[in-house]
This record gives sequence, structure tokens and C-alpha cells, in this order.
Amino acid sequence: ENESTVSITVVGASGDLAKKKIFPALFALYYEGCLPEHFTICGYARSKMTDAELRNMVSRTLTCRIDKRQVWPFLLLNCDEKMEQFLNRCFYHSGQYDSEKNFSDLDKKLKQHEGGRVCNRLFYLSIPPNIFIDAVKCASMSASSGNGWTRVIVEKPFGRDSESSAALTKSLKQYLAEDQIFRIDHYLGKELVENLSVLRFSNLIFEPLWSRQYIRNVQLIFSEDFGTEGRGGYFDNYGIIRDIMQNHLLQILALFAMETPVSLDAEDIRNEKVKVLRSMRPLQLEDVVVGQYKSHTKGGVTYPAYTDDKTVPKDSLTPTFAAAALFINNARWDGVPFLMKAGKALHTKSAEIRVQFRHVPGNLYNRNFGTDLDRATNELVIRVQPDEAIYLKINNKVPGLGMRLDRSNLNLHYAARYSKEIPDAYERLLLDAIEGERRLFIRSDELDAAWSLFTPLLKELEEKKIIPEYYPYGSRGPVGAHYLAARYKVRWGDIS
Ligand code: BG6
Repeated sequence: ENESTVSITVVGASGDLAKKKIFPALFALYYEGCLPEHFTICGYARSKMTDAELRNMVSRTLTCRIDKRQVWPFLLLNCDEKMEQFLNRCFYHSGQYDSEKNFSDLDKKLKQHEGGRVCNRLFYLSIPPNIFIDAVKCASMSASSGNGWTRVIVEKPFGRDSESSAALTKSLKQYLAEDQIFRIDHYLGKELVENLSVLRFSNLIFEPLWSRQYIRNVQLIFSEDFGTEGRGGYFDNYGIIRDIMQNHLLQILALFAMETPVSLDAEDIRNEKVKVLRSMRPLQLEDVVVGQYKSHTKGGVTYPAYTDDKTVPKDSLTPTFAAAALFINNARWDGVPFLMKAGKALHTKSAEIRVQFRHVPGNLYNRNFGTDLDRATNELVIRVQPDEAIYLKINNKVPGLGMRLDRSNLNLHYAARYSKEIPDAYERLLLDAIEGERRLFIRSDELDAAWSLFTPLLKELEEKKIIPEYYPYGSRGPVGAHYLAARYKVRWGDIS
């Protein structure tokens, strides 16, 4: 093992994702001692930069992860040292994304660093979709020669509908085998999403309840309290359904709803996920509500409308909000609405899963809740972010001589229970890619199934030029989302 080396090339090194997520995640892995002894990190982008300039750029993105209980000065010192060591392993290579010549120069440079060891190469393509295939082609030319592996991490968008996604997959497969392609969905790397299977399959008390018999509805809610700021150019061509629902929320849904996998192996898990996706009916227009944020003035500050973004056409109908009802036609979930809600420029930033259980039959205590039985039902909330938590709402007697009930939380609050900071999703996913663990990456049949669910709807929205419901920046989103939920006798748990 000591004689092998990993070269990680971040293609698109000066981009936002590289700076915000990829370099910090690589450093965190280094800091935690998770990277192999011999490794090289290479930033690749078009602009001219020296190694020193890259290191300077990267250094501004790094932070130290420290056990909150023990912020001793020597740990900080140690962190500075580690940063220095890490930066010394980072290099820069300037090149075009479609230039075979530039990639072959990269190959030579990597070889120097690899020093004749068995070399494994990981390419992280953090670049826009239109230059994707060219870059894959060139990167595959600087694939590892000899006994090492070559893997390529790709980020969404994986096309914008079934056809373009299939075309992309076909082109990718000209240059790479499926087991070399790591399609990232960073939500799968989030701590509480990974914990979903642990919660279900390692506790006796949840799995027996995990079906239509006891669960009334499931809600997957994503909200951000900022707009598309600066990303309008990308976003306008995709919209919130492609940006969040078709991937992040649908992946959570599949993990949530899948049957027990045969084992924890990647293929066993992905087989179960794909079954869930294929058991679902493609969405129709009546299953969704779309919205777009408009300008809003609050406390003397005016927040912009989506179409105020200079990179967005003034008459854009692209949804920045959507709510949708999905159904899984299998024995476990028949008739249970899975409601999704995702939006930008809302009142808060959070991502959560809410499981609302059925009413207790013949509840002795019903009269304590008046006519509103929804208030008396159990609800399990998995708060993916921020302030990670899992809590279960239960009914409880208010202490005292009378008989009054209220709802309380059995609460697993991560910050109180665990002192160590939760790793960023990209850390886990990068480590998995280095280790060849595919469990948290999307297989091509999963991707196909995900697109099949959303493609007809997306086409209809665009062909019929459906006008989104406008909602003020910073609000709770369009009221249409409530009507949609009400059609299925559901009340959004994040609002009530
Ligand atoms: C990305 C979307 O996939 O996820 C962004 O393209 C979104 O629009 C982001 O802001 C949210 O990720 P996180 O980890 O910040 O919740």
C-alpha cells in the first residue's frame, strides 16, 4: 500500500464548488489522517496561476476541525502545521478543458510526483455541463497507466431530462466504464441521510412502523433563505425541480422507503433504491405547484426578485419553488403521500424529513385534543440541517393534578450528544471515491429512473408555459403548497 499513490485532480479548480467544498474537504481528510501517505493534489483550470497562487487561494478556504471541548493552543498550532504540509502537496496546472495536449502535459507532471509508484488517479470534474464530455475524454487520456485505478467524480446536472441524460451517459461510457464513474449527490454524504438506514434497520422500534399501516404521510422539505444570487445563469436553465427534487430529495425518499437490502454492499443498496424509484408513477401537472420569488421590502431593505438577477431573462418562468406529491405503488407504501417541498428565498434555511403517523384508533384521550386529531399524532422529524437532530413528537401528560396533555419531543440533538463537529458531505464522498466505495454514488439505472419520474412533468411545465405562483422573498412560499397538501389531507409539519 505504501508504494501506491493517489493523484487527485480538481478540474475547475478556481470555481465556486472547488473553493467552497472540494479543497476544504480534502484538507479535512488530510487533517484527520484519512488520505494515503503518498498523495498529490492538482488544481486544473484555464486561468494562469502559479503553484504559490493556487496555494494562497486554497489556504483562504481552509479551516481546522477541532473537538469543541478541547480547544487547546497546541491543537491550533498543530493545525497550522498541517495546513502548511497539505498546501505543499497542492499544485496547479493551467489548461483548456478540451485540450488533449494540456491534459497530456498534466499526465507528465503527475508522473513526476508519482515517482514511479503504482498510481491511482481521481479526477473531480467541477465544470459546467457543456464542456463535460470533452473534459472526460481528455481526462481519460491522462488515466493511470499501469496497475492503478482511474476514477472520475461528476457533479450534476446530469442532463436536463431523460433524453439528454441518456446521451450524456452514453458519451461518458465511450471513455469510462460504469465502475469508474462516481456520480455525486452530496445529500447522500450528509450525516443524517447516512444515518437513515441505521435508524431504520438497527432499531427494533422503527422498522415495524415503517409502512402504510402506521405512516400517514412523509414530507421532504428543503428551504434556503437566499435566492439564486450569482448562479442565475445556471439555475435558469434548470429550475428547482431539477436542482433539488429530482436528485437530493428523491435520493432521500428512495433511502427512506427502500426494502431491507441484502447487505450493506453498494450494489445491494442501489438495487433496492432503484426498485423504489421504478415503483413510482411519473409526476403529472396536477401533482405539483410551482412558484417564483418576487421582490420584497422588509425593515427598509429591498430583497430582489428572481428576475432581477442580471443573468436571468426578465420573462423567465423558471420555478424557484416547487411542491409535489409522489406515490410509491408497492405493498409497503400504497396510498401514502410523499410530499416534497423545495424553495429558494424562503424565510429559513433547513432540510428535514417529517414522518407523520396515523391517528391512534379509539384514542381514550381524543377529547383532550378537541377536533384537531392531527395535533395528537406522533411525528418523527429528522432534521438534516442545520443543527442536526432526530426527534419524536409524543403526547404527554402535563404534570399536575389535572389531566391535560401536550406534545413533547424525545430529542436526539446532535450538538448536545456529540462534541465532534459533523464532517461535511464532500469529505465522506471524496473518501469513499478514493476507497472505491460506491454505496453513496448514483448508478446509471437509478439516474434513468429518477429522470423518468420527472421528465414528462418538466416538459409539460415548459411546453404549456405554466406561470409560477409568485411569493415574496423571505416568505414561507406560495399558498398553493398548502392546497396541494390539503388535497391529500396533509398539513405541512414545518408550518403548523
Ligand atoms: C446544490 C444546488 O446541489 O445544493 C444548490 O445546486 C443548493 O442550488 C445546494 O444551494 C444546497 O446544498 P447544501 O448542502 O448547502 O444544503
